[in-house]
Amino acid sequence: MTQAFPGSEFPSIPGEPLELAPIEKALLAMCYSVHVIGSASAAGERNLMIADWVMQVSFSPRLVAASIENDARTLRFVRETGAFTVNLLHERDGHEIARRVVMPAEGGKIRGRSPEASAAVHDKLAGLAHRLTPEGAPVLEEALGWYACAAERFVEAGDHTLVIGRVTDGGVQRSGDILTEKELGWEYAG
Ligand SMILES: Cc1cc2nc3c(=O)[nH]c(=O)nc-3n(C[C@H](O)[C@H](O)[C@H](O)COP(=O)(O)O)c2cc1C
Repeated sequence: MTQAFPGSEFPSIPGEPLELAPIEKALLAMCYSVHVIGSASAAGERNLMIADWVMQVSFSPRLVAASIENDARTLRFVRETGAFTVNLLHERDGHEIARRVVMPAEGGKIRGRSPEASAAVHDKLAGLAHRLTPEGAPVLEEALGWYACAAERFVEAGDHTLVIGRVTDGGVQRSGDILTEKELGWEYAG
């Protein structure tokens, strides 16, 4: 898997160019839009995470599937309440939001951190204008658009879980287009 996190604490090996296998190259050739999944826990905590792997999978009923890392705080929250939003980042300034929410909420998810830093929980909503759906999931005011989902199924998919959600609400908030992964300059595939 190729995950690029420019300027982050994710490890890289200096001086060693990344050698991609042909299969990785093929998987990296796909285009993705950049989404931010908003979630809420049963205790009322909120979280945001960047996700490329989100797509509509049915017209009637309207279903969307999001593939979420098994150890993501977001997945735990969605399992607890069933509620999540998908915020569509704007091509013009979505990269600023992306930079704010790219790191995992839980410090312990990043290897090599001190015990103190590992225990810390990062509030990714701090400083980001948002409102909450009636179910408590965050909608970003600066998003191009958004939709709210009620999780219907959790399907194991290797190191991720496919969350299939029924789309219950949504709208477009600004004119323009969605930010793509290529424009953002980060990759999540391979
Ligand atoms: C461009 C980009 C796209 C990503 N897409 C996904 C994705 O589709 N699914 C996923 O589980 N993680 C994805 N990630 C990684 C998560 O955003 C990351 O693990 C996040 O910190 C998990 O958040 P949480 O633990 O606070 O819920 C992506 C990361 C980047 C930089």
